[in-house]
Amino acid sequence: MTAISADNIERYAVVGNPVAHSRSPQIHQAFAQQFAAQITYEKVLVEPGQFAAFVDQFAAQGGAGMNVTVPFKADAFAYADETDELATAAQAVNTLVFREGHPVLGYNTDGIGLCNDLQQRYAVEVRGINVLILGAGGAASGVLQPLLALSPNKLVVANRTLSKAQELVQHHLQFLPAGAPLACSRFEQLQGNFDLVINATSTGLSGDTVRIAPAIVEHAFCYDMSYGPAALFCRWAQQQGAAQSVDGLGMLVEQAAQSFFLWRNQRPQTEPVVKMLRASL
Ligand code: ATR
Repeated sequence: MTAISADNIERYAVVGNPVAHSRSPQIHQAFAQQFAAQITYEKVLVEPGQFAAFVDQFAAQGGAGMNVTVPFKADAFAYADETDELATAAQAVNTLVFREGHPVLGYNTDGIGLCNDLQQRYAVEVRGINVLILGAGGAASGVLQPLLALSPNKLVVANRTLSKAQELVQHHLQFLPAGAPLACSRFEQLQGNFDLVINATSTGLSGDTVRIAPAIVEHAFCYDMSYGPAALFCRWAQQQGAAQSVDGLGMLVEQAAQSFFLWRNQRPQTEPVVKMLRASL
């Protein structure tokens, strides 16, 4: 049984700082409508250091589930009583599930969201191809294992600060079989042909661009985990002659669909919700 509030309406929230920009309430209300379910889904701005206290209160008041965004994914990982393999490897949780009398469960649905978007929306076959991830922060960490599970020929993590890419790769290798095709590089030292280039840096938010050689994206399928106006890499790659260049709106909706499934055991249709959001951007 899912926890419900006193008025029998399931209660959900996204917690972050900042959080005002979040599209999650719109997405989850659209999913709920597909099943004629009544839910509440609020955006909650939490101050640093207040995460655990807020979650305690939310769960005690009958909250059923929570999405967690920047900067609290590591706090959510620490909060959860049990975490799935992907959250454990990423040490980051974006979905909490509360059931009365049960441990608090923590999941990371970001990587599944990216892989579903790539495979289902864009028909990208990752098996056997060369994949490049730009960035070595939380966003990159969340998608590494699900991408490797799709058996690419190699996966290179490139970052402005090489030491962070090295740390990330070393950390993830612990969870992978020996010989996993995972390596790292500086932007300037990138070599070889990549079929799929994924921007997981936060450059779009600050208005910066990633400084890699245009030849790296030429002819590749380019995926920007940012979406809308922040998808600067997507537009840049398009200008450099990428085979295709897309933003991360689909990933946003797919990761939400996986959270919704974890909470309600129902798989919503994502395409109408992507279209709705695209129209509102
Ligand atoms: P997130 O949770 O969004 O991944 P993060 O953990 O702060 O955020 O990581 C941000 C990533 O974007 C890092 O890989 C960062 O590179 P550094 O490790 O060198 O800081 C990258 N990034 C941010 N601004 C950048 C810029 N102007 N050029 C290149 N990379 C940048």
